[in-house]
Amino acid sequence: MAELVPVEPFDIVIFGATGDLALRKLVPALFHRWDDGQIPESSRIIAASRDDLDQDTFRTMAARHIHPGNGERAARWSEFTKRLTYVSVDSEGEGEGWKLLSEALDSNPEKVRLFYLALPSRLYGPICTALARHGLNTAHARVVLEKPIGSDFQSARRVNEQVGEVFPENAIFRIDHYLGKETVQNLLILRFANYLFEPMWNANGIDHVQITAAESLGAGERAAYYDRSGALRDMVQNHLLQLACLVAMEPPASLESDAVRTEKLKVLRALRPVGPEAVANDVVRAQYQAGAVEGETVPGYANEVGHPSNTETFVGIRAHIDNWRWAGVPFYLRTGKRMSARRSEIIVQFKPVPHDVVGAVQGTLHPNRLVIRLQPDEGVKLMLMTKDPGPGGLRLRYVPLNLAYAEHFEKDYPDAYERLLMDVVRGNLSLFMRGDEVEAAWRWVDGIIESWDLGQTKLYGYPAGTDGPAQSALLLAREDREWFDAFNS
Ligand code: BG6
Repeated sequence: MAELVPVEPFDIVIFGATGDLALRKLVPALFHRWDDGQIPESSRIIAASRDDLDQDTFRTMAARHIHPGNGERAARWSEFTKRLTYVSVDSEGEGEGWKLLSEALDSNPEKVRLFYLALPSRLYGPICTALARHGLNTAHARVVLEKPIGSDFQSARRVNEQVGEVFPENAIFRIDHYLGKETVQNLLILRFANYLFEPMWNANGIDHVQITAAESLGAGERAAYYDRSGALRDMVQNHLLQLACLVAMEPPASLESDAVRTEKLKVLRALRPVGPEAVANDVVRAQYQAGAVEGETVPGYANEVGHPSNTETFVGIRAHIDNWRWAGVPFYLRTGKRMSARRSEIIVQFKPVPHDVVGAVQGTLHPNRLVIRLQPDEGVKLMLMTKDPGPGGLRLRYVPLNLAYAEHFEKDYPDAYERLLMDVVRGNLSLFMRGDEVEAAWRWVDGIIESWDLGQTKLYGYPAGTDGPAQSALLLAREDREWFDAFNS
């Protein structure tokens, strides 16, 4: 039976509190944890941004994503907002707001204090410097950095150095919310708490790996950020590479945070660089055009952002991990906005049996396939060959051993942000990226960006509501493979 363990009392300051992330994810996450009784009453939530707002205006803004209605939930929300204070601060650390912020924080030096920077990462350094100037970085203070950290290796390193001047590494929580998803954590358990997979979890047993993070939404309200970022920086540098690390890493000695993070780092460092020669063959970049998604007609990306743009909303990559375990095993990664459906999954395709002894009357032999579905409909599926029961000749069937979370578990566990926020309070770094991981991921991604910057990589188009451009399918078809839609097929 899942049991919520309350955390110790804490204060949290959310910088960038009027932004999309804070309003859509963070405040609701805190409300849900509080509503479930996991956050002690003496905790405080301080929403900070440079907008000059009064308390009621901020609370009304925050309520928009809570949908309190008029009943019991409204009463709970109203109770929760007694713990919520808004302060207006600048990023330079000047002005009255900083004084109010200091006053709003509990002066008890033993109390855990979180500074969540839901801001562009160029502000991380200045904010941390300001926190130090005001003496707010107490011994129990932790800082949470949202991704993307920097926009390339150099800028990420600068951010890491600036933040590192104020906070020790074990107080820096670089969040990648994919690591907070239940099925992602389960990947470690699947791999390392079962003996079944490990002996063949390598180039002898595995043909290739596919990692897909498809979204049906477009750039939406975050278009200004997204247009500077694009799919490679927004999704591949962090979420997709982190998933690849969890699939590919060596067994750590324990699940202790640095043991896991060191193994992930080794994977990132073993990624084969994608330079100008490889980029044309191994990377597909594309942008969505007008189309229909889930029955609704939607404009193309350029129309949505209001100007012609060279930003990719889809990227497909054939990556290689140059080490003994993965020699010759391609890792195909793809992510895109405005695709046919929201669907994130990891597929591990095993090798075919070396010889067909069956010679069945009907049905073909398919290699085993392990499918880890992150969302929606979380689950794990292992595809196996079986004999179709009954007379009439030997018939083969490819069937799933199916662990659908909805059927096996109660769906009342916290979402990724809720879980990760509570981990920050507990000081548990396991599901957060270390500075060197972020830098190693950028080093690899920079190789692709630099190749793109030479201007010879085509930006393909794909109609909204499809699974990306034909070139994405070709990335695999060239090697006699195809993208699987494993849960629906
Ligand atoms: C964020 C990206 O990190 O992840 C967004 O910045 C993306 O562009 C989001 O939409 C996807 O998260 P999820 O949990 O909905 O898959």
